[in-house]
Formats: sequence, C-alpha cells, structure tokens
Amino acid sequence: MRLNAFLARAGVASRRRADELIKAGRVSVNGETGQLNTVVGARDRVEVDGQEVQRQRLRYVLLHKPAGVVTTARDPQGRPTVVALVPGEPRVVPVGRLDADTTGALLLTNDGQLAHRLGHPRYGVEKTYVAEIEGDADEETLQRLRDGVELGDGVSAPARARRLGRGRVELVLHEGRKHQVKRMLAAVGHPVARLHRSAYAGLTLGGLEPGACRELEPFEVEALRTG
Ligand code: URA
Repeated sequence: MRLNAFLARAGVASRRRADELIKAGRVSVNGETGQLNTVVGARDRVEVDGQEVQRQRLRYVLLHKPAGVVTTARDPQGRPTVVALVPGEPRVVPVGRLDADTTGALLLTNDGQLAHRLGHPRYGVEKTYVAEIEGDADEETLQRLRDGVELGDGVSAPARARRLGRGRVELVLHEGRKHQVKRMLAAVGHPVARLHRSAYAGLTLGGLEPGACRELEPFEVEALRTG
C-alpha cells in the first residue's frame, strides 16, 4: 500500500497530512527516507521522526454468510453487508465474493497481501460448493462438469463433481469467475436453486450458524500463508 495510505490507516495522519510529512522528509521506510510513491508491505519498518509506527493488528475472520447479504463494504441499494456482520476492530474486508443469495464460508481480513494472493487465479484456492439444482445430475452430467463446460468466457477448468443426493451436487473448483457455479450448472441443463459454499481454502464452517463468525486460529492463518 502507498505510504500515505499506510500512515492514514495507522492513525498517524490524514492522507493529505501524511503527504506533507513525507515531503518534509520526516518519514523513513527501513531506514531510507520515504517518497510519495513509496509502497510499503507487512514487513517494512516505518518511522515518523524516528519513532516506529505501530501497524494495525492483522485480523482473519471466517463468516458464515447468510442469504440476502451482499459481499461488498457498502451497497448502493442499502442492503446489509458482510462487513457489518463482523463486529470489532480492526475492520476487515471480504476476500473474493459470494452472490447475495449464496450462503457459506467467506474469509474477511485486513491483510492485503494475503487477500491479494488468495484472490489471484494463479494461486487457485480450493472452493467447495453444494448446489441444489433443478432436476437430478447423472454420471454423464457430472463428467461434463469435471471435464469443463463452455461458459461464454471460455471453458471452465477441470473440477471435482459428485452427486450428494437427489438434486444435490458438490463442486470443487480452483477458479472463481463471476457466477461460475450457477453458470456451469445452467450450462449442463440444471439451473441452481440454492447455492452454499461449504469450504474455502480448507476452512470449513464447523458449527458456525448463518450470520456468525469466528477469528481464525494461528495455525489456520499459517496454512493459508503457506497454502
Ligand atoms: N458461483 C456462483 O455462481 N455464485 C457464487 O456466489 C459463488 C460461486
């Protein structure tokens, strides 16, 4: 993040005032005088007038997203947001997106570096979805889902797919295109009636009720980092 944003986040000064501090040469990053275009990450040491700036505690939260809640920080239509469901400080933001009507595992964090990595297609985080569909999926349909289906913006990557019961399938994906599960199932003739994400990057909901959240354990954060 830009140095002025870092200082603003840490509560040192507004962005504009931070720019003034930087221009005045009062801010250093790892011992070097900071510039307006200096970018700082989680491991950099930032000082103002020789005093180290305490960074925000990094926070990682798993939310059981309920239906009807949007995965953005603010909604122009005034619908409730996932951010508002996570009490306490510092504020965290969602990693990736679930549709408003999709329920399930959603990670929120203020660790921008980790969020960027997890959201990057190259990293290929594993996501498990359970879909209730119209009709029932036979073996041929499941195989098409595994092999990849044409979605209009390219063929979906190989996935795992299995039937859980009548009208219920589980899909395990490593990509995250917009409305991907709904589009994949619609493409094989089984529109989704309900969609739930049961796992994200190895994190499962356990006993978390819809709308409830919990802080991750240190070993869980470590697993996300080393993934
Ligand atoms: N795929 C979808 O279609 N919707 C979601 O919310 C997540 C994955």
